[in-house]
Amino acid sequence: MLKGVILAGGLGTRLYPLTKVTSKHLLPVGNEPMIFHSVKQLTTAGITDILIVTNPEYVGDFVSALGSGKEFGCEFTYRVQEEARGIAHALALAEGFAGGGKIVVLLGDNIFETAIHESVSDFQVQQRGARVLLKQVSDPERYGVATLNGTRIVAIEEKPEHPKSDYAVVGVYFYDAAVFDVIRTIEPSARGEYEITAVNNVYIQRGELEYSFVHGKWVDAGTFDSLTEAHQILLNSADWQ
Ligand code: G1P
Repeated sequence: MLKGVILAGGLGTRLYPLTKVTSKHLLPVGNEPMIFHSVKQLTTAGITDILIVTNPEYVGDFVSALGSGKEFGCEFTYRVQEEARGIAHALALAEGFAGGGKIVVLLGDNIFETAIHESVSDFQVQQRGARVLLKQVSDPERYGVATLNGTRIVAIEEKPEHPKSDYAVVGVYFYDAAVFDVIRTIEPSARGEYEITAVNNVYIQRGELEYSFVHGKWVDAGTFDSLTEAHQILLNSADWQ
């Protein structure tokens, strides 16, 4: 049974003072707190066992906003990331929750015009390894960027100064149970973080990284401009009314 992990850490400094009293993942997007979108992406895809990873400052707010999961037809588990040391570091906290099974990981600030359930189905039948989602963008230097050779991803670079393609790796990742051993092998990057891109590059080396394309609009809602865009996307999306 596939389980879901929503990573909702960070202090949201780029959105200050909106984030003065709470997490950016609880700010309004569409007509709901931002994190409801990630929850609905998972429940729409039939995933009802969901871990929320957040930081100590805001965990109480998340519990107040989301509760047990009854309202969403799912069950939440909460874990606290004490230090902000990167996405892979936060994901390591999901090992016990995953219990040796496959997981879908969503970054709680990624907003999509369309439901991702088809990619979830593709991963359900994938024998092993990992899967990422790609989206063509005009500003790839802000993201993990995938280099494709034919139908394979041959490398992913994290926020490269000179991107080799315009395929951004969005904040949805699918992993088999090997991911936690992979995380233990990676080193922190120059910015001192355990990068999810480093994890994905290990899967590339093993020949075990698949991908799908995102349909419709996608935004990483970490800035004022992208928060406005995320709001418009959800208000106008046929999938999320
Ligand atoms: C993270 C990842 C990056 C990915 C992005 C998607 O970046 O490191 O590879 O493309 O999320 O939102 P962050 O914006 O957290 O630095």
